[in-house]
Amino acid sequence: MSKKSPVSRSGRFTGGPAAEVAQFTESISFDWRLWRHDIQGSIAHATMLQKIGVLTKAELNAITKGMNQIGREITAGQFKWKPELEDVHMNIEAELTKRVPAGAKLHTARSRNDQVALDVRLWLRDELTALLGEIAGLQRALVSLGEKNVDVIIPGYTHLQRAQPVYFAHHLLAYVEMLERDCERLWDCHSRVNVCPLGSGAIAGSTLPLKRELVAKLLGFVNAAGQVQLTQNSMDGVSDRDFMIEFCSTAALLAIHFSRLSEDVILWASAEFNFIKIADAYTTGSSLMPQKKNPDIAELARGKTSRVVGNLMSLLTLLKGLPMTYNRDLQEDKERLFDTADTVRATTRLLAAMLRNTRVNQPACAAAASDPALLATDLADYLVRKGMAFRPAHHVVGAVVALAEKTGKLLNQLTLAELQSVDKTFGRDALGVFNLKTAMSKRNITGAPGTKEVAKQLARWRAQLS
Ligand code: ARG
Repeated sequence: MSKKSPVSRSGRFTGGPAAEVAQFTESISFDWRLWRHDIQGSIAHATMLQKIGVLTKAELNAITKGMNQIGREITAGQFKWKPELEDVHMNIEAELTKRVPAGAKLHTARSRNDQVALDVRLWLRDELTALLGEIAGLQRALVSLGEKNVDVIIPGYTHLQRAQPVYFAHHLLAYVEMLERDCERLWDCHSRVNVCPLGSGAIAGSTLPLKRELVAKLLGFVNAAGQVQLTQNSMDGVSDRDFMIEFCSTAALLAIHFSRLSEDVILWASAEFNFIKIADAYTTGSSLMPQKKNPDIAELARGKTSRVVGNLMSLLTLLKGLPMTYNRDLQEDKERLFDTADTVRATTRLLAAMLRNTRVNQPACAAAASDPALLATDLADYLVRKGMAFRPAHHVVGAVVALAEKTGKLLNQLTLAELQSVDKTFGRDALGVFNLKTAMSKRNITGAPGTKEVAKQLARWRAQLS
């Protein structure tokens, strides 16, 4: 940094850092993207400085105008970021001060320590709102795919073995539920992101009579009840990164949900399952095998989960053992945070687009769901209705399954006589258990994949998401 730089590190240093030090310590290459929030925060801070008499009205106007002009230049790609000015905060302030002499007063009672905490909170708050909107879009895509295929029944799996029949929509709605919990967690995280640290200074606040409430109000740090949200301890204010870790942890779980959904999609798109066809535009080919159509979006969604989980680990490790308060280590937080936010947002968007361009292969689903073994538990329930205790009923049906296997028949091909050879409790109506439609109409307790219940859940989500 040149000694003449308007935001130089003052008289303490006789020269700028060595070139390799500047290169090692700079953050402008990644924190430039905080510029909008940095400007927003500076204007609010300046507005408050005018109220307490540090700036005149004319100076505030000049600063505001200068900042807005810089903002326009950044948007237009005309602003020249200087690595020798380290970070976004110094770059913008230096440029402002070059143009507006009062810029030299802007940093009164402010440190980059509370400034960067503020900028990241503002940035993450916007990011959270955008992400929540995109997750709702993905939930809508899942609901729509379910609605388009309301009658489709597939085997539900445990241990990846066919278990019991479920509506395809029921399977999709399981993901809608998971995503809803992610949204709740993100909103909860939002409440702790939405707290204003400005006024914490470098570590110990300020001797000047700052109006912290005013700044917080101007920047929208207000809770649902309309109360201004301020950090209550200056040391915590500059060194707290819990809100980032909360976000990255919530995002990691979100990414894990994406990964599980992706795994189902990948299985369903395989020739072995053949339950779905993803539109060509949302798949890729192989450079060698001409017949291939690969579910790359789902595979990458699954793969990118690793970096989101890794980012969380990085942040946890970054904070571990840091003494109070601000330490330069904390500069390492941003790339992890940005990468997490970028990754989960892009993945949300792409998964939604892929699902909107996926169609269900109804005959293949019907063929898989027609396996009568899926209704073996229903046959045990039949015996329970006839008065048998469940444990013996389970045993009897097990014997029926063994008999079917021995005779090379499907369960529903056994005769009444054969059933009765295992247990006399079976009546004429026993084989009626294998009517899939009837079976699905019977699963109507809350949360079950029954015909009425799934329709109810689809309608509930449709209403909630619109
Ligand atoms: N670029 C720094 C960061 O990201 C800003 C704060 C620097 N503060 C300091 N005292 N050097 O954390």
